[in-house]
Amino acid sequence: MSAHVFRSRSVEETHAFARALANRLDARSVVALCGELGSGKTVVVRGICDAFGCADQVTSPTFTLVHEYQGTRRIVHCDLYRLSSMEEMIETGMVEAFREDAIVLVEWAERALDLLPRPFLRIACEHGSGENERIFTVETVEPDGAVAPFPLIVRQVLREDPP
Ligand SMILES: Nc1ncnc2c1ncn2[C@@H]1O[C@H](COP(=O)(O)OP(=O)(O)O)[C@@H](O)[C@H]1O
Ligand SMILES: [Mg+2]
Repeated sequence: MSAHVFRSRSVEETHAFARALANRLDARSVVALCGELGSGKTVVVRGICDAFGCADQVTSPTFTLVHEYQGTRRIVHCDLYRLSSMEEMIETGMVEAFREDAIVLVEWAERALDLLPRPFLRIACEHGSGENERIFTVETVEPDGAVAPFPLIVRQVLREDPP
């Protein structure tokens, strides 16, 4: 398995993955989180926000579609799940956030890939074989549309062995 594919076996491991990712973001990074319901997108958002000291502010933006958090960086968190048209997505204010000094984290970004400013990071989130296994694939999407692997070094999470 290469370093841009991370197989997580627990929420804690996903948080370790998200912290490693956070270390590589700059003040205006755009992160597209793609993948079905329950694949771990919001858990990754919470882990990234933890790295910037604002995890306690994170809620699932199910009804409010765009949330803002202030930690050591400003973070804008969007969830496009309930939106279908481009007009609705633009109305959320997400597009303005791309011009501001903020890290923008977009759940269900596959619905609006054309609206995202390139380059951006794409994280494909998938269910693995067991109930608690998730697979995260991290790539950059370049201005010309080329996709390149984005390797991460994730520190091992110490887990207690099951009895
Ligand atoms: N390895 C794991 N990584 C992330 N979440 C996990 C993992 N194993 C189980 N889960 C559970 O899966 C769910 C993921 O939910 P969430 O992050 O809200 O998904 P999404 O935002 O993609 O719909 C949470 O209930 C979490 O506790
Ligand atoms: Mg979510």
